[in-house]
Amino acid sequence: MTAVTDQPMTPAAIRSAELERQIAVDPGRFRVLTGDRPTGALHLGHYFGTLHNRVRLQDLGAEVFVLIADYQVLTDRDVAERLGAYVEGLLLDYLAIGVDPARTTVFNHSAVPALNQLLLPFLSLVSVAELGRNPTVKDEIAHSRQAAVSGLMYTYPVHQAADILFCKGNLVPVGQDQLPHLEVTRTVARRFNERYGPVFPEPDALLSAAPLLLGTDGTKMSKSRGNSVALGASEDETARLIKGATTDADRHITYEPATRPGVAGLVLLAALCLDRDPHTVAEEIGDGGAAALKRTVTDAVNAKMAPIRARRAEYAQDMGQVRDILRAGNERANAVAEATLTEVREAMGMFR
Ligand code: TRP
Repeated sequence: MTAVTDQPMTPAAIRSAELERQIAVDPGRFRVLTGDRPTGALHLGHYFGTLHNRVRLQDLGAEVFVLIADYQVLTDRDVAERLGAYVEGLLLDYLAIGVDPARTTVFNHSAVPALNQLLLPFLSLVSVAELGRNPTVKDEIAHSRQAAVSGLMYTYPVHQAADILFCKGNLVPVGQDQLPHLEVTRTVARRFNERYGPVFPEPDALLSAAPLLLGTDGTKMSKSRGNSVALGASEDETARLIKGATTDADRHITYEPATRPGVAGLVLLAALCLDRDPHTVAEEIGDGGAAALKRTVTDAVNAKMAPIRARRAEYAQDMGQVRDILRAGNERANAVAEATLTEVREAMGMFR
């Protein structure tokens, strides 16, 4: 796995650091919304990048909404395959890592009609040219294997604005690639408020401080590429995946992300699991070579994941209860969305 670390502080990273200070002082001021597309199992990259951060914010006392973005699966494929199974898998992952349904609202946006209706007024607030300029959308179109680009591909960042603004979310923990979408959300909120009066906050992105983990083959860690360790993977699957990871010929283990990406990625993964400094972890392995490194990583991952996997297995024994958790989350999300939609219609002067 490859690590990308020691990047210069971007304006978004500086803003995130400032937000962290505010969260520490007054967590109750923040309503957090973030989510995932149900396209596969969540993995260690998600865990250290975003998932663990949600639980941290929940435990600090912020109000958290976690979205399962099922409509958004259709942006880059014609049919959402195995949707039910993936939704249930995400739910299990969330519960396993410590998302507490008594404090955090988990919902899927297709079950919240009033959220989706916000898309209509929101689409009127952005131009076609703006939709076409979104760099993340452009990138996704370039990598899409679809024959034709759908209208949903161009408009999904506006749908994402509805995801965030339906609950007046003001803090959105996301990865770097989502920043253009956050800009769309801010634009939508600002223009709505200008045209119709103050209804929405302009939400901030909260970038994770965790360094980026790439997959065991050195490319982007992805649910579908077989290069990631799923949260719910067994100890044996974990060992097998790490055994197959790309390293190099130098037996002496060091932490040098720029020149030894494969080795550094593994060292970083062990360090994150052990909550230790990657340089110290590398030094201790020293001349042990890739085999010793992989043993250390496997043990560290399996130890770190053991309680999470145990909790996951426990919840999986009663899927009825797990589905009820989502039903309750959807009920709450619907109440919040309907209140917001009422405000929006009133602000716009719609006949009721
Ligand atoms: N686009 C996000 C992803 O693919 C998922 C998502 C949908 C999301 N709606 C959101 C994230 C709203 C944050 C806020 O990861």
